[in-house]
Amino acid sequence: MTSTILITGSSSGIGRATARHFHRQGWNVIATMRRPENETELTALDNVLVTRLDVQDPSSITAAVEAGLERFGRIDVLLNNAGYGAYGLLEATPTDKIRRQFDVNVLGLLETTKAVLPHLRANGGGTVVNISSIGGKVTFPLGTLYHGTKFAVEGLSEALHYELAAIGVKVKIVEPGFVNTDFGGRSFDFTNDETLTEYQKLVGAFFAAQGQMSTGGDEPEVVAETVYQAVTDGTDRLRYTSGPYAAGLLAARAASDDATFIGGITQQFGL
Ligand SMILES: NC(=O)c1ccc[n+]([C@@H]2O[C@H](COP(=O)([O-])OP(=O)(O)OC[C@H]3O[C@@H](n4cnc5c(N)ncnc54)[C@H](OP(=O)(O)O)[C@@H]3O)[C@@H](O)[C@H]2O)c1
Repeated sequence: MTSTILITGSSSGIGRATARHFHRQGWNVIATMRRPENETELTALDNVLVTRLDVQDPSSITAAVEAGLERFGRIDVLLNNAGYGAYGLLEATPTDKIRRQFDVNVLGLLETTKAVLPHLRANGGGTVVNISSIGGKVTFPLGTLYHGTKFAVEGLSEALHYELAAIGVKVKIVEPGFVNTDFGGRSFDFTNDETLTEYQKLVGAFFAAQGQMSTGGDEPEVVAETVYQAVTDGTDRLRYTSGPYAAGLLAARAASDDATFIGGITQQFGL
């Protein structure tokens, strides 16, 4: 029987590339997004259902799972990919922005997983893949909120993997490095307040470092291949670093104590 994957945040970047990749591999794909009415490419593919899912809207999550089951009869894999980056000064960030970052990147992932679990339990198995980041293992300045969400994704995924083993469901964490997507544009929500002069040297250093790092990222297809490997390798491996930059950085983190690694980041940002 053909396997089926449900993907959140399929409108662009990693979600879209993964939808295309699984489709090419002969899977059924439930490509969910907030605004399916804007989609033209995925809707034209056989065995791809494009349907609405906003991870902040629980009724849209239920409706998307139901629509997927109606179309394909089963769901084998959930890819929790939807997410964005709220960066900047904590002191200047309104509470609703703080809540929204955790709502989308953490609570939305949990709600979507909860909605799919009864079905995976009834099937006696399946896989939940959560897109984390190198930012779930290391931190950069002015990433308090984003790193908070991705460290949460790492911890909740690891804890959940024990629980879901009871129902034959595997949990996989995929950790991309820098990927050429809309993450640094549309999905980058930066908050500053220039009247908070004490922080402005740091804000300047952040944008200088970001400019340097924004070149030479991986293509989203690299992450799509990592997700495919995580789903199909037949192992119980929990974490998959995606791309050489992420592998190098996380190896350096694992080999260093806090003071050494964090000292290196501080130096890199010229602080
Ligand atoms: N790019 C990187 O360097 C990088 C590195 C590590 C991890 N990641 C992670 O990879 C994931 C995908 O990001 P990307 O790089 O592919 O960026 P992207 O191209 O900007 O894609 C982000 C996706 O998330 C969706 N999204 C945002 N809020 C949503 C919500 N409330 N409900 C449903 N979908 C929502 C966006 O949908 P709309 O089109 O409706 O906005 C979009 O489809 C994120 O979890 C991100 O943290 C990215």
